[in-house]
Amino acid sequence: MGRVEIIRVRGGARLEGEVFVAGAKNSVLKLMAAALLAEGRTVIENVPRILDVTIMAELLRRLGCEVEWVEDELTIDVPAEPGTEADYDLVRRLRASICVLGPLLTRRGRVKVAYPGGDAIGSRGLDMHIDGLERMGAKVSSEHGFVIAEADRLHGASIWLDFPSVGATENLVSAAALADGTTVIDNAAREPEIVDICGMLIAMGAKISGAGESTVLIEGVPELKPVRHRTVGDRMVAGTWAVAATMTRGDVLVRGADPRNLEIALDKICTAGAQVSAEQDGFRVKMDHRPKAVDVVTLPYPGFPTDLMPMAIALAAVSDGPSMVTENVFDARFMFVNEMARLGADVRTDGHHAVVRGRDQLSGAPVTAHDIRAGAGLLLAGLCADGVTEVSDIRHIDRGYPAFVPQLQGLGADVQRVDVPDDELALEF
Ligand code: UD1
Repeated sequence: MGRVEIIRVRGGARLEGEVFVAGAKNSVLKLMAAALLAEGRTVIENVPRILDVTIMAELLRRLGCEVEWVEDELTIDVPAEPGTEADYDLVRRLRASICVLGPLLTRRGRVKVAYPGGDAIGSRGLDMHIDGLERMGAKVSSEHGFVIAEADRLHGASIWLDFPSVGATENLVSAAALADGTTVIDNAAREPEIVDICGMLIAMGAKISGAGESTVLIEGVPELKPVRHRTVGDRMVAGTWAVAATMTRGDVLVRGADPRNLEIALDKICTAGAQVSAEQDGFRVKMDHRPKAVDVVTLPYPGFPTDLMPMAIALAAVSDGPSMVTENVFDARFMFVNEMARLGADVRTDGHHAVVRGRDQLSGAPVTAHDIRAGAGLLLAGLCADGVTEVSDIRHIDRGYPAFVPQLQGLGADVQRVDVPDDELALEF
């Protein structure tokens, strides 16, 4: 009989104290892929202790890199000729591994990466990645579940993205960094993680202007050199703490993340009634009454992040009044609301809209985390629920939140990881 871990939380505590936010998952994975662009030892600092980094490190090892992870520092020693194939067994566990596509193609002239599988938050195409690489002269085909891209030498191109895709922007910027000539990406993603990867590429010797703006210009250079780079703080984790403080009427100092990267989310929390102040190396959220309902619309940066949408639903579920939450980035991201409903949340969805009628009190129940952010949203709801909430499938939460449970405990929450027999769960849920 197998055993699994769940997170058990007893609602009711007010979160108080200080938390440190490590580097952003969505940045570090791309920084690791970008290391492939230069032979030699790249060192990445402020690396979060999460499973996705372990998987990405394994992927890089299989490409011939030596990877060493000591405390929050990751050293990647890239050979002169890294491998060119990323297998399905790793790609299916980490969709972000598709970000090796651009770096390997431009460095080696050929790359074969398994198509990532489906995701619990909706379809996630690769058309913009592929179209952009084709414009830069790559021949791209698809065979037996792999994307194969080839180009002796990529050349600069004008690329217009249909949607400011984060992944496509990162792949194309990396590919263009070593291409012949100038590439212009219009309607590029502007996320702080894009600015982070461009910052590292520039330090490596790339010529990039416009990072963080809608038009990014990259002048290809023949070679890049390895560097030491510090990962930007995780704004999704920071935003999760901000919502947690608001929901529990707490007082939390969040360190390690720049509040300017979270402006709309923090503004929503202020509208809900919390006091937010910028502090050295972070920000503080204080709340002393029931939150007021606020409407939220997710959009690419600088809009409200889709990754904080489940937190917005959790907040709305305990707020005073009805909220409308609109999801514009992923097409199936509301699937987790059925789990919220198990905690008594009153949520109705229609297409990409959700109407949430805030309840005075949620009620603890067993629930399942279907993805990283949904799992965190359920935990926040559990913090405000009456009685005990047990969250299963917590491997998803572990993918994005290093030390979530000890940090919650440090803020005064009654929460534990508990080892339970697998079949007991099957009966219970
Ligand atoms: C990244 C983040 C994810 C975040 C998302 C949006 C990582 C590891 N993940 O995901 O946490 O929620 O940005 O901020 O950084 N699309 C296409 N064709 C493409 C590319 C994308 O149709 O070629 C669509 C996707 O299906 C999705 C939307 O565009 O509906 C946004 O995707 P994208 O911005 O690319 O997100 P990811 O890079 O996958």
